[in-house]
Amino acid sequence: MIRKCLFPVAGYGTRFLPATKSMPKEMLPVVNKPLVQYGVEEALEAGLTEIGFVTGRGKRAIADHFDVSYELEHQIAGSAKEKYLTSVRDVMAKGSFSFTRQSEMRGLGDAILTGRRLMGDEAFGVVLSDDLCVCEEEGVLAQMANLYKQFRCSIIAVQEVPEEVIHKFGVIDGEQIKDNIYQINHMVEKPDAKDAPSNLAIIGRYILTPDIFEIIESTPPGKNDELQLTDALLTQAKSGCVLAYKFKGRRFDCGSVAGFVEATNYVYENIYTHE
Ligand code: UTP
Repeated sequence: MIRKCLFPVAGYGTRFLPATKSMPKEMLPVVNKPLVQYGVEEALEAGLTEIGFVTGRGKRAIADHFDVSYELEHQIAGSAKEKYLTSVRDVMAKGSFSFTRQSEMRGLGDAILTGRRLMGDEAFGVVLSDDLCVCEEEGVLAQMANLYKQFRCSIIAVQEVPEEVIHKFGVIDGEQIKDNIYQINHMVEKPDAKDAPSNLAIIGRYILTPDIFEIIESTPPGKNDELQLTDALLTQAKSGCVLAYKFKGRRFDCGSVAGFVEATNYVYENIYTHE
């Protein structure tokens, strides 16, 4: 059983400046709910109730969001407006929330390593909350947690993407071992379309086994002089097994303005409860 989930949220969100100058991009609302809450709800649905955040300077709003706001609660208690707090109250009741800080932005691998104390010596989920995933039945993490029970190794979520955008992603090279499941042989970060080993792009959902921490520690800085999670996962794949899972559902890249607008329209039309 996987119980824990890590949310690296230390990034600057430069693509959303000036909105993200003093506000975390994870708090940008998709309709009426901050991006990060969608990710936390997905983790809780998968049974991952111990939520750890790797934050940085200027990210206090995230901690406040998952804490009681006494003044607000007091003000609207008993009024018709109380219903607007239902979803976040529900999340707070189901989950426990811990925070640690990444002191320097040294890449996703470094952010994961910073979360080591919170995750401990057990397999855990990772959510990059700027990827908003919408699924008809189970959420992506729930699908992956089920798969973990069977395979007991690190799992990366992937989706098929068209050739024109493949250069924006990490791309896997793998051997299909079952429907929608691939054993990874190689991964390439942001390849030109002509060099891409497949059309299967890595998205922001992972299940990682705890040996990943030592692997990250011994991984040298890669692209942009940052510790890349992909480099560590490649080492893990070569010495053992890492699976890629083509999940059932749809993903919106809310780290980009276009993806964010697309997600907002989709949620407004299909998920938001209109009153
Ligand atoms: P991104 O590169 O997509 O996020 O990192 P960013 O840096 O905030 O966005 P832009 O490019 O400046 O607009 C993917 C995820 O990894 C986290 C980010 O918070 C984001 O959720 N991250 C990345 C960290 O927590 N620490 C890091 O050092 C790097």
